[in-house]
Amino acid sequence: MARFCLQLNTGSSRNLAMALAAETGQRKSGTVIERVEVPQKVKNSRILILGGTGRVGGSTAVALSKFCPDLRIIIGGRNRDKGAAMVNKLGKNAKFSEVDINDSKSLEEAMKDVDLVVHTAGPFQQAKKCTVLEAAIQNKTAYLEVCDDTSYAQRAKSYMRKALDANVPAITSGGIYPGVSNVMAAELVRAATSEGKGEPQRLRFYYYTAGSGGAGPTILSTSFLLLGEEVVAYNKGEKIKLKPYSGMLNIDFGQGIGKKDVFLLNLPEVRSIHEVLGVPTVSARFGTAPFFWNWGMAAMTYLLPAETLRDRSKVQQLVQSFDPLVRAVDGLVGEKVSMRNVLSIAAFVLAILEGSTQPGVWFPEEPEGISIEARETLLSRASQGTINFIMNKAPWMVETDPKEIGFGIYD
Ligand SMILES: NC(=O)c1ccc[n+]([C@@H]2O[C@H](COP(=O)([O-])OP(=O)(O)OC[C@H]3O[C@@H](n4cnc5c(N)ncnc54)[C@H](OP(=O)(O)O)[C@@H]3O)[C@@H](O)[C@H]2O)c1
Repeated sequence: MARFCLQLNTGSSRNLAMALAAETGQRKSGTVIERVEVPQKVKNSRILILGGTGRVGGSTAVALSKFCPDLRIIIGGRNRDKGAAMVNKLGKNAKFSEVDINDSKSLEEAMKDVDLVVHTAGPFQQAKKCTVLEAAIQNKTAYLEVCDDTSYAQRAKSYMRKALDANVPAITSGGIYPGVSNVMAAELVRAATSEGKGEPQRLRFYYYTAGSGGAGPTILSTSFLLLGEEVVAYNKGEKIKLKPYSGMLNIDFGQGIGKKDVFLLNLPEVRSIHEVLGVPTVSARFGTAPFFWNWGMAAMTYLLPAETLRDRSKVQQLVQSFDPLVRAVDGLVGEKVSMRNVLSIAAFVLAILEGSTQPGVWFPEEPEGISIEARETLLSRASQGTINFIMNKAPWMVETDPKEIGFGIYD
């Protein structure tokens, strides 16, 4: 079970807009998209999914081949057996390519004749280079990555000139959060400003996941590595640095979830939303269940030196010790986020294929990343199969503060 919501405060006393999507696994009244007709010229595009043997990449491959059965899917990974199993699941339009993203030769080989590469082979934290983006630009291949790290996303942005010169469209941070949450933030700010409801003053992201959210072991590394990063947030235009997993707030996530504690994390959407959308106060908080995971995460920031939490090989050892326990608890609390995630990533892939992304390296909230006209389609694809998708409703339906407007996606 996972849920996120965004709150935008414009300083206006009037309620503005809210979107909410919910899934119960029962009656589904939201749009359910079986097939997507992409333009004829991209119908048979070749999509390389790096990390395609993992949870996020593998499920993205399945979702894409369901939406567009004519797409050619290439599963990229280091493990032939896992690759063969995935290809078997996908059918005749799929194949495996052995590739290590740290080996530029194998990347170059894998990217030959590929139209779009989807990079899900994390973790992105503490990675020294954007090897896949570099190779994509070199090969003139469109690019999407599900990066959830601030430094990595900013480094990706520094390839703007090269991507423009090579005429390559690229999106960084294109998952669910960050990703769909950025597009929602952009729509929220656009709705507020275009309706003359005042200038956006504060935007807060709140994320909640029960257990690991069904993601793979990499997501555990990601969480630990994030605990080693100082949190960057913005207060009235000023950049502030805060302790990770501090600043607890008790947020009402609404029906079915209720009030949950959420804590500060260093996430890329905070900086990008501040810079791209010009919101002066921005922060992101995350919480998980059962509650003792939150205590454990907070304790780690006190018990372990930050250098240990920033060291990928030490974190890998920690993950090996914790992973069996996390999987056991997942069994008890549920693990539905991965499905929502893959619909989000598939929605970004389709948007790029449909020509909604300009050459250059973009965050999802930038109109050159996902054009304003394409946002509604992307959000409807990403939220499909839900029982509720509400726009322009009063915020009291999910939040109690009447001065704030919120968007939410609920699994
Ligand atoms: N933006 C978002 O909304 C969002 C949400 C969820 C997850 N994520 C990110 O998505 C990433 C993947 O998560 P996951 O749950 O799918 O993890 P996972 O199940 O552990 O999968 C990771 C995949 O990456 C592959 N991989 C790792 N290192 C590689 C390398 N050097 N070369 C080639 N392949 C490599 C692994 O394959 P082998 O080890 O078998 O080679 C595996 O298939 C994480 O970084 C996570 O933070 C983003």
